[in-house]
Amino acid sequence: MNTCRELRKFGFSKDTYGETITIFYGDNDDIVNVMPMGFKLYADGEFCGLTGRVFKGSTMYDLVIYKGLNEIRCSVCITKDPRAFYYSIFNKKYVINLLKRRALNSCDAYINGTMVISDVGDDSIKVIVKLHNVNIITRNPRVFDRASAAIIEALVWYTKIPYVPCNKIRQILDRERFYLETVRRASRKGIYRHMINDIYARAKELASTRCGSRDKDL
Ligand SMILES: Cc1cc2nc3c(=O)[nH]c(=O)nc-3n(C[C@H](O)[C@H](O)[C@H](O)COP(=O)(O)O)c2cc1C
Repeated sequence: MNTCRELRKFGFSKDTYGETITIFYGDNDDIVNVMPMGFKLYADGEFCGLTGRVFKGSTMYDLVIYKGLNEIRCSVCITKDPRAFYYSIFNKKYVINLLKRRALNSCDAYINGTMVISDVGDDSIKVIVKLHNVNIITRNPRVFDRASAAIIEALVWYTKIPYVPCNKIRQILDRERFYLETVRRASRKGIYRHMINDIYARAKELASTRCGSRDKDL
């Protein structure tokens, strides 16, 4: 298996987080937890895997710290299904039961591997996933990324600026600002940053031309 090529095929890259549902297994292969988690591609010489962070406050952070775990077996589910993300936050038992019965239909592929603890910080733990194998369920599995979603949302709201009443323009600019921050957090890809900066600048410009005020941002 050419691991890097496989991971790139799913949409993982070094500069943008690919959002996944990650399933964690205990010693007896029982599922101990599921959680939405973002990963970037990690390449070091011949080695290729995924890297991400487990944040303080999560069950997995506590598990690693209190049990002193160095590694944990996991399966990274590639999906764009918002239901999978929703239930993995609000009803984990439901997702775990579906997984046990092999009845979770949302995952387009599973990357099976071991999550290795690389660096323990006060606020997060840096982890690296070493791949064992991949299980492809549908034809073209692609990982979800927040930066792309935020750019599209920013465009949708930009196109509303010519029509909304001027007293609603401030709300739109606040949204655009929010999407700008989302893209900056989720990706370092130059073209993504260029697009979101441009959308934000154009939104401010258009809002100011239409509804200009003494407010320097309008
Ligand atoms: C799209 C998405 C991506 C997330 N990425 C991460 C992540 O990379 N690391 C992390 O620790 N939490 C991440 N979270 C938050 C955790 O999924 C959430 O805190 C977790 O489900 C809590 O699980 P617990 O109730 O078992 O502690 C993400 C949440 C979402 C919705």
